[in-house]
Amino acid sequence: MADSPVTGETKLEGLYRWLDERAGLTTIWKTVFARAVPKTNWFYTLGSASMVLAMLQGITGMLLTIYYVPSPDKAYDSINFIMNQVAFGWLIRGMHHWGATLLVIVVFLHMLKSYFVGAYKYPREITWLTGGVLLLVVLVMGFSGYLLPWNQKAYWATSVGTAIAGAVPVIGPLLERILRGGQEIGAVTLARFYGLHIWWIPIIVLGMIGVHLYLVIRIGITAPPERDE
Ligand code: HEM
Repeated sequence: MADSPVTGETKLEGLYRWLDERAGLTTIWKTVFARAVPKTNWFYTLGSASMVLAMLQGITGMLLTIYYVPSPDKAYDSINFIMNQVAFGWLIRGMHHWGATLLVIVVFLHMLKSYFVGAYKYPREITWLTGGVLLLVVLVMGFSGYLLPWNQKAYWATSVGTAIAGAVPVIGPLLERILRGGQEIGAVTLARFYGLHIWWIPIIVLGMIGVHLYLVIRIGITAPPERDE
């Protein structure tokens, strides 16, 4: 039933029109969500699946920071506390832990799909390149996160990982020292990896996803190739 005898609108419709005139909600909806797409298949959901997983990693990660303490004498105990004392802490940490692996797999499959439909070609080169950076930073995210529990596996995996960086010709030793924050893995390494994990990499991921999706919306997606018979 209409609330306004003048416009014949309900209160909700009136509120929407008020917002729409000022913020252009309908235009955003039409451009982003109601745009025309070619007939696709399930493989085209992998990009959105990557985004949902990345968002879940963000949310569960933010929840973990409430109890996680990034210092060598507290990190291990704080993870134990999250797993055994915090309500649903095991679930949040489990989602973050397994979500990281799943994200890498799904992003990789999304890349394969984009490759097989030829979506790297003109005019989508920048979409492909920002995607490449995204794959790389998702891997760095996993590598930096692996050290944070500060257990034996974390310590030795980082020891090996940073030593591999150290084997790069010419700049290797410098790279290794920058990654470790010194000769050995210690408090500085943990602080450095934590900073990378919660600030530097997420900011790069957000920026890259922004450009990536802007281009997907601007250019539109590739139609699946047709069988030539
Ligand atoms: C966190 C990582 C990523 C997210 C969140 C993401 C998200 C998306 C989304 C939502 C789409 C549109 C729907 C679709 O076609 O699936 C898309 C398309 C695309 N993505 Fe990604 N993507 C990621 C990583 C990558 C990677 C690693 C590559 C390749 C190196 C890549 C290359 C492309 C290309 C070329 C398209 C256009 C596809 C087409 O026109 O059919 N993306 N991406």
